[in-house]
Amino acid sequence: MTQDELKERVAREALKYVQDPVIGVGSGSTVFKFIEALASIKHQIDGAVAASETSAERLRKIGVRVLDLNSVNELPVYIDGADEVTEHLHMIKGGGGALTREKLTAAVARRFVCICDGSKLVPVLGKFPVPIEVIPMARSYVAREVVKMGGHPRLREGFTTDNGNVVLDCHGMTLLDPPKVEGELNQIAGVVTNGIFARRPADVLLLAEASGVLTKKRLPS
Ligand code: 5RP
Repeated sequence: MTQDELKERVAREALKYVQDPVIGVGSGSTVFKFIEALASIKHQIDGAVAASETSAERLRKIGVRVLDLNSVNELPVYIDGADEVTEHLHMIKGGGGALTREKLTAAVARRFVCICDGSKLVPVLGKFPVPIEVIPMARSYVAREVVKMGGHPRLREGFTTDNGNVVLDCHGMTLLDPPKVEGELNQIAGVVTNGIFARRPADVLLLAEASGVLTKKRLPS
């Protein structure tokens, strides 16, 4: 089974979590498969909050109304992918650069359902570089601070986020305590968001393997 087929499989499985009139939708190739699958049940929802302009465009294309997060009092469920995920349902996200809107939508959501193919499950986060969205004028300062923390930041060339900022991809970060590092990165002036999603982890992980889709629930800590 190809990775694309695994993404389709997990995207279809995620439809079971669409049980309310309003849903949150993340970004990335797995989520785009989910949006394709959502077309078959779009009459069941009133609208969706999108975590990227690209997702918003794709949702509109299938006939789903896109809602402003500010107009939504509560979001029962948020469905999104990840670049890496652990058994604790901590994640690295932002490979597509949508990390800020993703973190915001996840923060509002009651339930975060992460959809991935099996290759994303790792024992420890950090092989995938941690993306950090940074205000453009803070780029060099933030990079120097990340170096002090042991990381190797690289500017994502030719890329601007939906919020008009730049992204530093930080290699070699040791993420034995993801919530701690997430908090430390947040403290650097000029950082908008970092791609460690551990303080608000996923609640459910749907993991597509050739044998089927595994469901893992976050254990209470
Ligand atoms: C985008 C994200 C995506 O969820 C993450 O990059 C996974 O993407 P894909 O489903 O294409 O592997 O965080 O900012």
